[in-house]
Amino acid sequence: MAAETPVETRGNHVSGLLEDRVGVVTGAGSGIGRATALLFAREGARVAVVDRNLESARETTGLIEEAGSEALCIEADVSNEDEVARMVDDTVARFGRLDCASNNAALGAGFRPLTELDRVRWERCLAVSLTGVWLCMKYEIPAMLASGGGSIVNISSLSGMNGQANQAAYAASKGGVIALTKTAAAEYATRGIRVNSVAPGGIETPGMAAYFEAVPAVRDATIATHAMRRLGRPEEIADAVVYLCSDRSTFMTGHVMAVDGGIQINAHDL
Ligand SMILES: NC(=O)c1ccc[n+]([C@@H]2O[C@H](COP(=O)([O-])OP(=O)(O)OC[C@H]3O[C@@H](n4cnc5c(N)ncnc54)[C@H](O)[C@@H]3O)[C@@H](O)[C@H]2O)c1
Repeated sequence: MAAETPVETRGNHVSGLLEDRVGVVTGAGSGIGRATALLFAREGARVAVVDRNLESARETTGLIEEAGSEALCIEADVSNEDEVARMVDDTVARFGRLDCASNNAALGAGFRPLTELDRVRWERCLAVSLTGVWLCMKYEIPAMLASGGGSIVNISSLSGMNGQANQAAYAASKGGVIALTKTAAAEYATRGIRVNSVAPGGIETPGMAAYFEAVPAVRDATIATHAMRRLGRPEEIADAVVYLCSDRSTFMTGHVMAVDGGIQINAHDL
């Protein structure tokens, strides 16, 4: 008779995907960042909730605490190097380590042709949406190395993969985030740090609502580009971020995961 294969018994304990981890989420006061911070906590992580808008960061922190998890509220502008350094220092001081990060804060530059874009808007968009991601990684990576490794998920966009008419600065910043993600992944692949990106399609967030309000015709046109003929929910992006931060994706690095309701399969009505 063949020997019985030993079965690992784990009892009834169901642990979250980020049990005992410490995470940081930027732009966590709204939309995708808030949904990500809430899911980090639900999956067992202690979370630093970072936003330049303190009031909205406090709201997210309150929601996490009400649900019985631990969160640290941090007011920081990701384009400011001193504030980013403090964000990481404060997180490690409070929780003792850093394991995962979603660099999510970003800013558009309005909706206009590139010839009508002024330099101030261009530079502010790049400063937050691209330089901000680099600054976050610059300080997160040493803290993760000191913690024995980690996983970073930078939020890019379909516009960073395909370009987007009337969104030159934003699309360029997101294209930059994709290149930066792959570069960081290459630099730290052998040192226990994975770096991936999630590229959302159109997602119903306060940020997106403001854009649709400014240019109402864009809403239906945007929906029509999705094969599923709907916008996504912030929670659907958070699920992908948590997966990439977790041990369910240990052989993935330098990957750009589109979560886009089928924009790329070009299933438009003929
Ligand atoms: N909503 C979409 O359809 C969509 C699509 C593709 C990509 N994205 C990306 O997803 C991410 C989140 O988007 P969202 O729609 O949830 O945005 P949102 O505008 O609803 O929230 C963004 C949050 O980031 C914060 N923030 C802005 N600048 C900051 C700064 N300098 N420092 C710190 N915090 C700052 C804001 O205060 C806000 O709380 C962004 O990177 C965005 O580019 C969104």
